[in-house]
This record gives sequence, structure tokens and C-alpha cells, in this order.
Amino acid sequence: MSKSTEHHPVRLRRSVLCVPADNARALAKVAELATDAAIFDLEDAVAPERKAEARAALVRHLSESRPDCEIVIRINAIGSGFGQEDLAAALAAGPDAILLPKVESPADIQAAADWLTENDAPETLRLWAMIETPRGVINAPVIAEAGRTFGGRLDCFVVGLNDLRKDTGVPDRPGRPYLIPWLMQILLAARGGGGLDVIDAVFNDFRDADGFDEECRQGRDMGYDGKMLIHPAQIGPANERFGVEQIAVDEARAIIAAFSAPENAGKGVINLNGRMVERLHLDQAVTLAAKADLIEQRKTRS
Ligand code: COA
Ligand code: MG
Repeated sequence: MSKSTEHHPVRLRRSVLCVPADNARALAKVAELATDAAIFDLEDAVAPERKAEARAALVRHLSESRPDCEIVIRINAIGSGFGQEDLAAALAAGPDAILLPKVESPADIQAAADWLTENDAPETLRLWAMIETPRGVINAPVIAEAGRTFGGRLDCFVVGLNDLRKDTGVPDRPGRPYLIPWLMQILLAARGGGGLDVIDAVFNDFRDADGFDEECRQGRDMGYDGKMLIHPAQIGPANERFGVEQIAVDEARAIIAAFSAPENAGKGVINLNGRMVERLHLDQAVTLAAKADLIEQRKTRS
């Protein structure tokens, strides 16, 4: 929970629902859902022969109706033949972020960031990156550094395990034992680079609620901010597992109050009810309390 907030303000990204852009019913449904973010997908969820239709439908949909959540558009890879038109359509649709698939090097981020700047994209438009290939995992640390550079647009990593399993031969097993080293490597790269958020991969079997819950707990315990989802039934459980616990919020508020007491002004370390608390804990507490406030605001809106 302690991340650099210098470039990246605290956001709620507990639930990140993927929505195929060519599915009109799914597009319409998003407005009713309590997802923190929606990824409108032009890539893997859309067949090649429907790419143009999906692109047009998405631009039309977002011009008529904007869900009350963070809006992200996943484009096809720039070199795929669809990517350049997707990027232009995404910019026109005005999302909060554009998600680049199969990012393998800082140059992939730089190319998109440069194109956005040249095309007068607002500075607030962020880039997210899918880390889902062997080279993407190997290069995650240098890719994450782009969070500090290239206009600072890079904001979030999303892990893609379906692609990574396909490219590496690691099978899909409960508990993901042989994938954990890579998941932790990506987490460390994101935090050590630009202080990025990181979203855990999709859980394919959307009728298996127990298996999903187990994987959410695992992602949370690995330090992930949220989970990429494929079905509305996964939103509530993800919000719960990646949310904040009341006891931790109370403790965070006590730490904030203690450091703002006049007798503790200028102190680096204090005694809080018999426990040593340092200023690094204050940073963590401020982030956690900010997240709790955002969750409250979302509850009162819905
Ligand atoms: N986003 C928004 N709404 C969704 C949704 C999604 N990802 N998945 C399902 N829904 C809606 C359905 O439209 C349906 O609503 P409706 O009754 O108003 O039409 C409701 O939720 C229940 O859906 P259900 O019948 O259980 O599932 P389905 O058979 O319609 O869809 C999938 C199952 C897997 C095809 C669908 O969930 C899906 O396409 N998920 C996203 C896949 C994706 O994006 N993959 C690429 C990234 S990994
Ligand atoms: Mg993928």
C-alpha cells in the first residue's frame, strides 16, 4: 500500500472489468455496475473481421453514455495493422487511459506517449501496459521506469497470464505456484520503477466463485491493487478483497492524528500505545486513509 504518490495520485482500481467493444449488451450494462474501472476492449475480445465495427461502436457508445468509473480503452498492438486506427479512435473517445497490449520494451510506451503528445492529447490521459509476454516480464523494470519519463503518462501495469501461459508452457493450476515468481517480479518492477499500480490477471472460470475468491486473496497478499475481471459477478468479490479493512483504516487515522499532535511536531519516530511508529508508516497511513475515503465516496454515489 505504500507507493510513490509523487507522479501517481491514489486511485481505486480494485475491480477492472473487461468489456468487449463489439458486445452492445455488455457496453450498455457497464453503467449499472460497481466496477472501479472498465477496460473497453478492441483487442483479444474482438475477432479480426469485427475490429472496425467494434471501434466505431465504442466511439459512438462513449459519446452517448459515460459510465461512472475509470474509462480505459485497450487497443490492438501498434504494429498489428489495427493499432494506429485504434489509437486515433481512442483519443477521440476521450478515455482516462489507453491500455497497450503485449508491451515488451520502453520504446513501446515512448511511441504511444509521443504520438499522443503530437496529437494534442490532454496531459491527464494516461497509458496502461499489459505485461503478458516473456520479454515483457523480463523487461518489466525498464518499462516501469517510463512511469517517471515520457511525459509520465504510464500509470498502471495489467498482468496477462493467458498469453504468458501460452508463450511459456506453464499450465493453468490452482494457486498458480510456478507463476508466483513472475507475478512478484512484475509487482516489484512496478513499485520500484515509477510507483505504478498493478492489476492481477483474469480468472477464466467465472462460475467458480470459491476459486475466484481464493485468487483475489492471493493477489491482494502479493500486494496487487486489484484484479482484471471478465464477468459482472466478479465485481463485488473483487471490491471486497482488494478493499480496506476497517481495523486498518482506524489504525491509519490514529497514526495520522498522532503525527499531527503538537507534541509530535518534527519527530521522526513516536510511541503510539506501546508501538514504534515512524514517518514511513505515516505515508502508508495517508495512502490507506485516502483509499478508504474514495471507497466511501463511491458507496454514497451508487
Ligand atoms: N461486461 C459487461 N457485461 C457483461 C460482461 C462483461 N464483461 N459479461 C457478461 N455481461 C452481462 C451480459 O451481457 C448479461 O447481461 P444481460 O442479461 O443484460 O445481457 C449478464 O452480464 C450475464 O451474463 P452471462 O449470461 O452470465 O454471460 P454471457 O454468456 O453473456 O458472457 C462471456 C460470458 C465470458 C462471453 C462474457 O462475460 C465476456 O465476454 N467477458 C469478457 C471477455 C473478455 O473481455 N475477454 C478479453 C480479455 S481477457
Ligand atoms: Mg492478452
